[in-house]
Amino acid sequence: MRNLKGCTNFLFTLSGSCSCSVSLLVRKLSSVSGAAPKVCIVGGGPAGFYTAQQLLKARHDIVVDIYERLPVPFGLVRFGVAPDHPEVKNVINTFTQTAHSERFYFHGNVNVGMDISVEELKEAYHAVVLSYGAEGNRSLAVSGEDLIGVFSARDFVGWYNGHPSNKELHPDLNCETVVILGQGNVALDIARVLLSPLDMLKKTDITQRALQTLAASRVRRVLMVGRRGPLQIAGTIKEVREMINLPGTKADLLPVDYDGIAEALNDLPRPRKRLTELMIKTLKMEDGGQEVLPGADGKRVAGIRLAVKKLEGSGEGAQAIPTGHTEDLECGMVICSIGYKSLPIDPAVPFDPRRAIVQNNLGRVQGTAGLYCSGWLKRGPTGVIATTMNDSFDTARIILNDLEAGTLDMSIHKPGAQDITALLKARGVREVSFSEWEKINSEEVRRGEALGKPREKLLDVEEMLAVAWS
Ligand SMILES: Cc1cc2nc3c(=O)[nH]c(=O)nc-3n(C[C@H](O)[C@H](O)[C@H](O)COP(=O)(O)OP(=O)(O)OC[C@H]3O[C@@H](n4cnc5c(N)ncnc54)[C@H](O)[C@@H]3O)c2cc1C
Ligand SMILES: NC(=O)c1ccc[n+]([C@@H]2O[C@H](COP(=O)([O-])OP(=O)(O)OC[C@H]3O[C@@H](n4cnc5c(N)ncnc54)[C@H](OP(=O)(O)O)[C@@H]3O)[C@@H](O)[C@H]2O)c1
Ligand SMILES: *[C@@H]1O[C@H](CO)[C@@H](O)[C@H](O)[C@H]1NC(C)=O
Ligand SMILES: *[C@@H]1O[C@H](CO)[C@@H](O)[C@H](O)[C@H]1NC(C)=O
Repeated sequence: MRNLKGCTNFLFTLSGSCSCSVSLLVRKLSSVSGAAPKVCIVGGGPAGFYTAQQLLKARHDIVVDIYERLPVPFGLVRFGVAPDHPEVKNVINTFTQTAHSERFYFHGNVNVGMDISVEELKEAYHAVVLSYGAEGNRSLAVSGEDLIGVFSARDFVGWYNGHPSNKELHPDLNCETVVILGQGNVALDIARVLLSPLDMLKKTDITQRALQTLAASRVRRVLMVGRRGPLQIAGTIKEVREMINLPGTKADLLPVDYDGIAEALNDLPRPRKRLTELMIKTLKMEDGGQEVLPGADGKRVAGIRLAVKKLEGSGEGAQAIPTGHTEDLECGMVICSIGYKSLPIDPAVPFDPRRAIVQNNLGRVQGTAGLYCSGWLKRGPTGVIATTMNDSFDTARIILNDLEAGTLDMSIHKPGAQDITALLKARGVREVSFSEWEKINSEEVRRGEALGKPREKLLDVEEMLAVAWS
């Protein structure tokens, strides 16, 4: 079951059962004496901040440092969540509250694996938590994937959300049809951004550059292509409905895909059933492996050849089997939205290349005492922020258990950030503190005000640093 996807509301409060079991732990732990535990976390996204929050809450002596590659915090909340979903970004308020704790320090502009090794962090801290997310993209491994006009969803989203590494993307929207491969919520985000009336995006924190490109866009048609059927789409009902109801847009579902679907309805789990009913209703309101094809110049995408598949088996586990037939579609751009992928950052950390996660058991990194993981790096690149929160609370709980059980040796004094900062300094790496990030934040908000937007993001790391250290 993929019930993880059933929940698209964002929890800002701790659920009753979670906080309760942890506060029980606090009472037990406070009777254990010893040095103050020093914990560091790699990656300042939701997993990092939620792990920190839980550790700080459970033990009043613990000190937590987050090391983040960029000068700015919050990971995919800033660079993934769609600009027209500002309410989702409210979790930033909770993270900021955590950051203001006296026992928490943010060290931005530190690239772990490059500027400092995981081994060095382990030397300096009692425990190290890896939560650096999934910064790669899965690849279809088909011919034509590297043609001009083919993008990964990760890059396309990074472009409209102002990720510094995607500022030179310059997608050419001078075409009528865009094909998106994949049917998850990221694919829906992209389709919505491409088709939304400009007025709906103008007042969001989408970058001004993306807004200008979208203003000149000729795109009129977005095809979302799935390898399986309507019963297996990965998007959730709220996001599908939002797309169906988008002003000025008509949703076209292929009737042939819905043969026999109505009959299957009653056996579906409730969230899947409601989603399928919505799609069938939409279908009735109307009348109703792949290859990327180059154009005449051989360099730019001009179309896509889709292998027609049939499903074997049923439900979530149904497999798509090629029928031998293919179908060609003309398009000017292809976006592969088939999922993100975690990357190894340090050879000392056991990494499962097949599942693309750090090898772990309940968040304990295999074979390495004192090393933990949380978030997408632990579980793989699925789940909403609430899933990541639950998962990070679990990892925090495991660390607290290990502290209590004596698995983590607290008798050794650990220098913590002091040594790491000295090492970084010697290597010419200067950190960005949380209050320095707040300067960047103020500057972005100021620039946004002039444009009637909540913020205008700085796109360039050098510029971020200049503002941070001004
Ligand atoms: C496009 C998109 C849209 C989404 N929209 C929603 C939504 O609307 N609602 C919702 O609930 N969920 C949404 N999600 C899911 C949500 O973003 C994830 O559940 C969550 O961000 C995962 O958290 P994380 O901390 O594991 O990873 P991330 O958020 O990716 O954070 C990882 C952090 O680690 C840092 N990092 C990477 N490498 C290093 C390194 N070597 N050294 C130091 N730091 C490093 C990164 O810069 C980043 O800040 C979306 C996901 C995507 C991809
Ligand atoms: N508004 C929101 O709440 C929101 C917004 C964005 C993202 N998110 C969350 O963030 C997570 C990541 O989203 P996502 O869309 O990247 O991932 P996802 O939900 O896992 O969807 C990936 C899609 O890619 C398809 N796919 C994978 N490999 C493929 C291949 N080789 N060929 C063809 N299709 C392939 C999958 O189809 P199969 O099912 O056949 O594998 C699926 O349709 C999800 O949990 C999502 O809910 C939430
Ligand atoms: C995704 O990542 C791979 C490397 O893992 C890369 O070769 C490919 O070009 C990327 N882009 C797309 C669209 O898949
Ligand atoms: C998070 O955990 C709570 C309590 O265990 C549960 O009720 C909720 O459904 C979980 N949310 C997600 C998205 O997994």
